[in-house]
Amino acid sequence: MSLELRSQPEPLAQAVEEPYYLPSGDEVSIFEQCHARDLAVMLKGPTGCGKTRFVEYMAWRLGRPLVTISCHDDLTASDLVGRFLIHREGTVWQDGPLTRAVREGAICYLDEVVEARQDTVVVLHSLTDHRRMLSIDKTGETLKAAPGFQLVISYNPGYQRMLKDLKPSTRQRFVAMELAFPPPEREAAIVERESGVDRDVAHELVALAGRIRALRDRGLAEVPSTRLLIAAAALVRGGVPIRNACRAAIVSPLTDDESLGAALRDLVDAMFV
Ligand SMILES: Nc1ncnc2c1ncn2[C@@H]1O[C@H](COP(=O)(O)OP(=O)(O)O)[C@@H](O)[C@H]1O
Ligand SMILES: [Mg+2]
Repeated sequence: MSLELRSQPEPLAQAVEEPYYLPSGDEVSIFEQCHARDLAVMLKGPTGCGKTRFVEYMAWRLGRPLVTISCHDDLTASDLVGRFLIHREGTVWQDGPLTRAVREGAICYLDEVVEARQDTVVVLHSLTDHRRMLSIDKTGETLKAAPGFQLVISYNPGYQRMLKDLKPSTRQRFVAMELAFPPPEREAAIVERESGVDRDVAHELVALAGRIRALRDRGLAEVPSTRLLIAAAALVRGGVPIRNACRAAIVSPLTDDESLGAALRDLVDAMFV
């Protein structure tokens, strides 16, 4: 790719195909209201409960392009905003993903935002108030977000992060929506649809998840997500016996603890005799 192309990339595209998303409550209409009112959204919920899928669906529904950024320790403000690239004839400015979303009126989704450092998160602040501005220090440019731009962050409040948490000054800039695992009927429908497994098997897996989720306070740091149930169902669909599928896709990913693992395997064996 030439530098000229990089400095003037193709416009962001919106999804053509409707992502499958089964709502659990009124999250679709609340998100639509936030979008219409230029409010930034924080999605709170456990890993694998459908946050990313929900944002993909909403971007499609609202007819906006989606820019997704997975946050991590090393993510810098420049990674979000952009940087100068050295070129034979000089330097070329390249917009980062956040800047592109601001210019083009995209939905910008920062996944697992607590993984990012505070000095990185701070660049979001001016975009979340009524000014909706992004200042690019390195170019001296100040951008006003294009209509349709919306900031969405996700956050898993279950993790025990003593040092890593969102600062109140950041949190209070977002409308928070809590997404939980869907009610059993709906979760079974999702597992069935995503894996192609029989309805009965989908219900059994959801029932198992319900029993394991009830153990949360007994030493299980993470409980089985909808994503893990879909993985187990996919194995069953591929011909793996259900007990083995549950061990491989549900029990093992959840714990390395020997006795906890044994207790979960017993639970699986008791449910699928
Ligand atoms: N409400 C839902 N409708 C459709 N699919 C869902 C829903 N919730 C979860 N899923 C399924 O679970 C998987 C994991 O969800 P994802 O959005 O990646 O979770 P998160 O971003 O919260 O970790 C998705 O790929 C999708 O297959
Ligand atoms: Mg996600």
